[in-house]
Order: sequence, then structure tokens, then C-alpha cells
Amino acid sequence: MQHVQQHSQNIVEVKNSCTGIPHDRSRQQQQERLAVVHSSPSDKVYGTGMGALAEKIIAKDSEISLKPTTTTFIQAASLPVVSLTAYQALTQGEAKTGSRVLIVGASGGCGLIGIQMARYMVGPNGKVGGICGTHNLDFVRNMGVCDMVMDYKTPEVLIGNDSPLKTFGEFDLLYDTVSSPKPTDNLNGQSYDIALSKFFTPRTKTVAIHGVSARWLWMLLGWEARNFHLMICSTKRTGVQLQSIASMVDTGAVKPVIDSVYPFAPEGLESAYARLLSRRARGKVVIDIFRGQEV
Ligand SMILES: NC(=O)c1ccc[n+]([C@@H]2O[C@H](COP(=O)([O-])OP(=O)(O)OC[C@H]3O[C@@H](n4cnc5c(N)ncnc54)[C@H](OP(=O)(O)O)[C@@H]3O)[C@@H](O)[C@H]2O)c1
Repeated sequence: MQHVQQHSQNIVEVKNSCTGIPHDRSRQQQQERLAVVHSSPSDKVYGTGMGALAEKIIAKDSEISLKPTTTTFIQAASLPVVSLTAYQALTQGEAKTGSRVLIVGASGGCGLIGIQMARYMVGPNGKVGGICGTHNLDFVRNMGVCDMVMDYKTPEVLIGNDSPLKTFGEFDLLYDTVSSPKPTDNLNGQSYDIALSKFFTPRTKTVAIHGVSARWLWMLLGWEARNFHLMICSTKRTGVQLQSIASMVDTGAVKPVIDSVYPFAPEGLESAYARLLSRRARGKVVIDIFRGQEV
């Protein structure tokens, strides 16, 4: 593995071995997230940096951390954005021991890490519920962290009078990774916080990471509703969060989930983005910059 130049007190040049790609392709040359990098021949680190679809990238040392010791680089590359997003969403939503947390999009990149991290945060006395499509119900159940897994493809059951959500009980936090301006990302034409609101208590919080357009407009105008938060994952000074996540991974509480790995080549990138944007990926899509040869 190649060194690394120290550009200034806190900027390092690092060798990039793999990258988990984000939805926003326009950012790939700019502030890209999710690189797994080496900061010295002995340090194996992961985190976020500039231009992660490159063999060498620039990173702030406050935004990287030693990678989990129990993962491969490919697995570690799948972690930074989805796990930082889950960590920040669950923290903002005040998930704690004993909380009941419901996660929409439980089979997706953010959701699969979200359900595991929620279980870690709420402990055995809390509850974790997941919502996903019919074809992923068993997959999510088999992660072994949810008390209940529900199908959004039968909305009449999900929000009907005999909804399983009634037995789940009043929940404290809805972590919504799905609702967006696209009608196909909603339930019966409604964002999930509206569609599920009949199961809310006055204290139930929603943290959404995409959200419908009106919500963004309201937020920009300073009208964010009480108990509803739109969240943009911050990559600033996240080294400490990445350290906590690495320890959750090393204790086995959180396992990286990879949908697919593509080679670092034009057709590989095209296929990787097509897979990601299909919204059918089960876990993360990763680009292997060094084609299987961990450096
Ligand atoms: N705010 C932030 O900081 C931040 C950070 C990261 C990501 N994001 C955004 O968050 C979103 C989620 O990212 P991701 O990587 O987790 O996406 P993803 O992997 O594509 O997630 C797909 C998930 O959405 C579910 N889904 C699709 N249509 C649905 C519907 N109508 N109702 C309920 N669930 C539905 C899928 O379920 P099935 O496949 O089981 O049907 C699957 O669980 C993306 O829009 C991304 O841009 C935001």
C-alpha cells in the first residue's frame, strides 16, 4: 500500500481501494462519500473524502477512522454513508434503550444498517419494526434483529383496521428512508409519516432522509413540523462516529450488507448506478477500485 502525503495539518492523500456509491451521481467528482482508504502503510481506514471514484483521494483526517478490524475493504466501503446516516437519524430521533423504532425501507442500503443499529441502540427491551416489499420479507426477518417485518405492497393490511402495527404498539420513532417526491416511493399516494400517522402518539418522532418536496420547502421556510425532521447526513468531523460504528461492527451488532460489487471500469460504473437507482438493491452497491487486490 502506498503512502499518503500529508498536505496540511489535517488533510491527507490516501490510496482508495473501494467505494460504496451514493445515489447522487453528480457528486462523484466532488465531495464523494464512502471511500475506504489507507492513510499509511499500516493504517487501514474508512470514511469519506473528495473524489472517491479515484485511485487516490483527498480526505480530512477528522472524517476518517480506522476501519473495522473484522471486515474486508469491500465490506468496509459499504458502510460510511449508510451507517453515518442511520447513526445520525436514530440519534436525532432520540432512539435509546427501550424505544420502539419503525423503519421504512428496511431492505435497502440505509434500512438494513438502520434496523441493526436500531436494535443495538434500543436493546432487548425495545422494539424494532421494518417495512419492505413482499420479496424481501424473509431476507429482512433473517437479519434476526426485527420484532416485526411488514409488507408495504399490501397497504390495506399495513394501515387497515387489523394492521400488525397495532400489535407492535405505539412507536417512538419512524425512520423513513423511502418517501420522496416520486409517487412510487409513497404509500397510497401519501408520504409514510402521513400514511402511518394514525399509529403515532403525540410524542412519535419522524426522521426522513429523502422526503416529499413540500417538506423540503417547509423546512427551508422554517416551518418544519414539531416531531418531523428532514435530515441530511453530515460528513463533517465524523471520525468519532465512524469509530463507534467500527466497534458496533467488530462486536457483531452491525453487519455490512452488500448487494453487489462492480469493477472500476466504465461499464462497471454504469451497471452499478443502474442497480442503485433501481431502488431494488438489497444493501449497498460497491465499486472495487483495485479489482479484488486489497492494497
Ligand atoms: N439524507 C441523507 O443524508 C441521505 C443519505 C443516504 C441516502 N439518502 C437517500 O435515502 C434514500 C434511501 O437510500 P438507500 O440507499 O437506502 O436506497 P435503496 O437501497 O434504493 O432503498 C430501497 C428501499 O426502498 C424500498 N422501497 C421502494 N419503494 C418503496 C415503497 N413504495 N414503499 C416502501 N418502501 C419502498 C425498497 O423496498 P423493496 O426493495 O423491499 O421493495 C428498499 O427497502 C435515497 O433516496 C437516498 O438518496 C439520503
